[in-house]
Amino acid sequence: MAGSGTAHLRADQERALSVENLVVEFPVTGGTVHAVSDLSIDLIPGETLGILGESGCGKSSAGRALMQLPAPTSGRVVLGDTDLTTLKKNDMRRARAKMQMIMQDPVSALNPRRKVKDLVAEGLEIWGFEGDDKAKFVDELLASVGLDPEVVRDRRPHEMSGGQCQRVCIARSLALDPDVLICDEPVSSLDVSVQAQVLNLLEVTRERYSLSMIFIAHDVAVVKNISDRVLVMYLGKTCEVIPTDDMQHTALHPYTRLLLESVPRADDAQKAAQKALDHGPTKAVELPSPLNPPSGCRFRTRCPLATDRCAAEEPELREMRPGQFVACHNVAP
Ligand SMILES: Nc1ncnc2c1ncn2[C@@H]1O[C@H](COP(=O)(O)OP(=O)(O)OP(=O)(O)O)[C@@H](O)[C@H]1O
Ligand code: SF4
Ligand SMILES: [Mg+2]
Repeated sequence: MAGSGTAHLRADQERALSVENLVVEFPVTGGTVHAVSDLSIDLIPGETLGILGESGCGKSSAGRALMQLPAPTSGRVVLGDTDLTTLKKNDMRRARAKMQMIMQDPVSALNPRRKVKDLVAEGLEIWGFEGDDKAKFVDELLASVGLDPEVVRDRRPHEMSGGQCQRVCIARSLALDPDVLICDEPVSSLDVSVQAQVLNLLEVTRERYSLSMIFIAHDVAVVKNISDRVLVMYLGKTCEVIPTDDMQHTALHPYTRLLLESVPRADDAQKAAQKALDHGPTKAVELPSPLNPPSGCRFRTRCPLATDRCAAEEPELREMRPGQFVACHNVAP
C-alpha cells in the first residue's frame, strides 16, 4: 500500500526534483518537534508547485531540508540525476547551485555591508566569471529583474525598498543558472502594492530561464494564482496534491476545503470555515502541536468529518482522480 509520502507522478514521468519520504525533526527540551513527516514531492520540469499550509506546518523546514540547509533527518532529495543526500561537501556546493532559495525577508537575506553588484556576483566564481565579464553579467541580471544597474549597483540593502531587495535576491539566485527555484513566502513581507509585481517577475523569470519552481505560502489566493499544482500540508504531512485548475470545486480533503472556504469574503460560509479552522468541531479542542501530533490522522482534532477510525489509523495518500491525491478515510471522488 502507498504511504502518505507516496510519489505523485508515474515512474516514467520526468522530474526536475524528486523528494522521497522527507523527515525533519528537531530535538528540543522535553521531546522532538516533528516538523516534516514523510513528505514526498515530485516537481515536473517547468511547473510551479505550490506548498500551502498554516503557520508552523513545516513548509520552511521542508524547503530548507531540500537545500540541505540543514540536511533532513531522513529521506532522499534528488535534483535532476543527483542525489543531494549522498554528496560530499565540495560536490554539494556545485550541485546546490542548481537549486536556489528565495526567502521571506529579502532585507535580512542580504549582507548589509555589501553592495548590490557584489551581492549578485557572490557565487559566480563557480562559473569562472571575473573582471569585465562579471560586471557585464551582473548588469544583465539586474536589468532582467527590472532594476536599473546604473542606479542600484553601488547601493547597499538598507538604501533600497523591500521589493527592490527581493529583486536583488532573485537576480543573485539566477546568477548560478539554477534549474529549480524554491520561493519561501517571497512576497509576504512586502507591501501589498509591490506583491503583484514581484509575483509577476517570478512567473516571467520561471518562463524565461526554463525554471521549475516550488512556491511556499500560507495565502491560498497567492498560491492558487501562481501554481500549476498545489500540495496542501498539515502538521508536517501531505493532505492533498491537486491541480490548481478549478480546485475550488475539485478539492476533497476536509482541510483543503476549509482553507479554500476561509479565504476572506465576509459571508457566512467563510465565517464558519474560519471558525472551524480556529477551534475545530468543538470549542474545547486545543490546537495540536508538532511536539506531540495526534494519532492516526493529524487533522482529526479539527476535522468536521472525523470518525473513530481517524484516531486509530493514519490515512494513506491515494489517487482519487488523475493527478489528485488525497489522504482521508472519509472522502470519495
Ligand atoms: N530550529 C528549530 N528548532 C526547533 N523547532 C523548530 C526549528 N525550526 C522550526 N521548528 C518548529 O518546526 C515547526 C515547523 O516550522 P516551520 O518554520 O517549518 O513552519 P512554517 O510552515 O514554515 O511556518 P510559517 O508559515 O510560520 O513560516 C514549528 O513548530 C516550528 O516551531
Ligand atoms: S481521515 Fe478522518 S480526520 Fe482525517 S481528514 Fe479524513 S475524515 Fe478528517
Ligand atoms: Mg515558514
